[in-house]
Amino acid sequence: MKKQLKHTISHHDPVHDSAIKHVQGTTVYIDDMPAQTGELQAWLVTSPVAKGKIKSIETGEAQMIPGVHCIITAREIPGGNQMGPVFHDEPCLADGHVHCIGQAIALIAADTFEIAHHAASLVKLDIEPETPILTIDEAIQHNSRLQPERRIERGDPDGVLHSCKHVLHGQFHSGGQEHWYLETQICLAVPGENDEMTCYSGTQHPSETQAVVAEVLGIGRNQVVVETRRLGGAFGGKETQANHLAAWASLLAAKTRKPVRLRLTRDMDQSITGKRHRFQSDWKIGFDDDGHIQSYTVIFNADAGYASDLTMAILERAMLHAENAYFIPNIRIIGNTWKTNLPSNVAFRGFGQPQGLAVIENAIDMMARFLNKEPNDIRKINFYGIHDRNTAPYGATIKENRLALIHEKIIHSSEYISRKKLVDDFNNFNHDVKRGIALIPVKFGISFTTAFLNQAGALVHIYADGSVQVNHGGIEMGQGLNLKMLQVAAAELGVSIERIKITPTNTSKVPNTSATAASSGSDLNGMAVKNAMDQLKTRIKSIAPEILEELFPGKKVLPENVVIENDSIFDSTQKEVCCGFEEFCSKAYLKQTHLSAAGYYRTPDIWFDRPKGVGKPFHYYTYGMSVSEVEVNLLTGRVKLVRADLVEDAGDSINPMIDKGQVIGGFVQGLGWVTTEDIKWNKEGKLLNASPDTYKIPTISDVPVELNVELLENAYNDNTIRGSKAVGEPPFPMAVSAWLAIKYAIASIKNHKAEPMLSIPATNEEVVLAVQRMNEAAE
Ligand code: MTE
Ligand code: MOS
Repeated sequence: MKKQLKHTISHHDPVHDSAIKHVQGTTVYIDDMPAQTGELQAWLVTSPVAKGKIKSIETGEAQMIPGVHCIITAREIPGGNQMGPVFHDEPCLADGHVHCIGQAIALIAADTFEIAHHAASLVKLDIEPETPILTIDEAIQHNSRLQPERRIERGDPDGVLHSCKHVLHGQFHSGGQEHWYLETQICLAVPGENDEMTCYSGTQHPSETQAVVAEVLGIGRNQVVVETRRLGGAFGGKETQANHLAAWASLLAAKTRKPVRLRLTRDMDQSITGKRHRFQSDWKIGFDDDGHIQSYTVIFNADAGYASDLTMAILERAMLHAENAYFIPNIRIIGNTWKTNLPSNVAFRGFGQPQGLAVIENAIDMMARFLNKEPNDIRKINFYGIHDRNTAPYGATIKENRLALIHEKIIHSSEYISRKKLVDDFNNFNHDVKRGIALIPVKFGISFTTAFLNQAGALVHIYADGSVQVNHGGIEMGQGLNLKMLQVAAAELGVSIERIKITPTNTSKVPNTSATAASSGSDLNGMAVKNAMDQLKTRIKSIAPEILEELFPGKKVLPENVVIENDSIFDSTQKEVCCGFEEFCSKAYLKQTHLSAAGYYRTPDIWFDRPKGVGKPFHYYTYGMSVSEVEVNLLTGRVKLVRADLVEDAGDSINPMIDKGQVIGGFVQGLGWVTTEDIKWNKEGKLLNASPDTYKIPTISDVPVELNVELLENAYNDNTIRGSKAVGEPPFPMAVSAWLAIKYAIASIKNHKAEPMLSIPATNEEVVLAVQRMNEAAE
């Protein structure tokens, strides 16, 4: 593959294909699609109790309301009552028992949303309540395990901890997080002939949505088409949960034989959908006087909610990133998953990695305070090595390690050392407002850890007029995937992007796809698009001599000299022997050339042996670092991010503008997780803050005034599409530096001689409590 070196952010990078439409408000989301003839609106009847036995569901009164077309309960499901993506433990509609508040019990289709909503309130539920399990501690107490424990181990962690000069230990908590995509969950299901069903679904995973719809309807997947043009944000929240809406809408559409639209209101969406998994982790770390980590043990306890969903894969990613950027010779990572009576928790940007990373970064922060050393010196001496100390706890070699390089770069560009002195000076002269500064590294493994998911397809058509249509299996959710695929398609074929159109993702065009997730959307689909283009180029090149020789009588053209570049096909040895792409395509068509190709790609050489906890689960790693400086008001707990510096290794970026947007977006979303986003349940398991007035996501005013974002230069990555690297999730955990900076500010109260007790998120309230504990702490 040719090296493409492109260092600077160019103002000529093509802009996001929806940018103008978003600004004008003309983007067509599913709810903007015009109503279909006879279309019905749907609503749900959900459980008001967190755990209980359903004694009766009375729908009589609701059925009588004029405009109600049908009500469906578990008994009316023609196929399997299942929506679990991996394990079959998530019923489509509650049957016999309910397991969380908000679990769907019945579905209603009516002429209008208001009628459906009103009818839902008339369905009488008799549920005998049982005592719910609402916290990880309660789940552990009742041994409410989801799946058996998982383990990754190397060396002799206990023996070495025993003989270490210093050992620190603790329990670390990180909270859940609501996705807060702007477009709430939605599906429009349109019945066709016989059993056919077409779903316009807001899904990150059309093939799985198709499979779940087929399963609940009891039909083959070949009867179901799922189409998705774009999502108004997803962040993992539509990786599995969009299946639910599609299954529910399809059941109603199949029964009524009418199109059915089901969309959730914001409050309903926030109340009934799953969140980021909260983690409670018990850790011990052993080290010497210099801060060399000799042994680390950690037990992750993840709150799964009531069903499996992707919890095991999320736990696995947390475990595979437990050591973050550090070589730890003796290590044991245990993963437990616990069932609680809350909505089943789901994928969320980072997919467990941030939860795993936060535990060790907090431990290192504590080590530094304990040893009275600069935390970055400790980080640096423990970084993975380049030639040795470079194997992960699961046995894989950490390749193309750019940690030391990025560290040196960011320490310099962020002026970390001089600014830290200023922070200390500031703290010496200010009593009620303190500042803090911190750096963290991020190492992020790229690939689905479930190896078979690392495959993708594409379908490319060249029409006789020279216009090109590209279909791929990935989903555009704001991250710019379609633009990147457009750029890849144009560059690989040798034509301009104006010639190409990307069509909505559709399961009948590209089948058996994986979710657009694990940040691998452009890696996988990009390679599949390239594969399709390679096939087409071969065909173009074989017919080219005939076409060119006809156009230029007397010239001899050899297939190996044919080049496609700048929208023309020419002989590289005699450049005047050239034909424009349009003319060429019409001639190729007349000469009966197959101008359509299905591309395919699967990531080579990845595997993971779960029982043994060893393997090579990732195609490659991305690296990034961030430095955050915060100002904390000790009286109100208000945190202000003063400045952040972010360096990300995006390989040879396909679109640096898009990638910088991902770095900023990921970081700011991470900021929400570590500071303001706090999910509160009451004693009955009811979500108390299900709307934006009580749940605070970061806004533009939370973005620091000084935000320096840099993509690493000369970072070409071998064996990926055009030398690029994935960038969707890795920037998220960079926000943990802001959280560590808050700790630093609080620790300055006692001149860094006592350890602040702080969890994620460090909300205003938590900060005030931590300040209070610090004021009471002995030095
Ligand atoms: N960016 C935007 N604007 N909207 C999103 O929903 N999802 C994130 C990330 N960036 C998301 C986003 C998540 S969770 C993932 S896994 C990746 O994008 C998925 O897209 P990719 O694989 O093409 O990077
Ligand atoms: Mo992203 S959490 O892998 O959808």
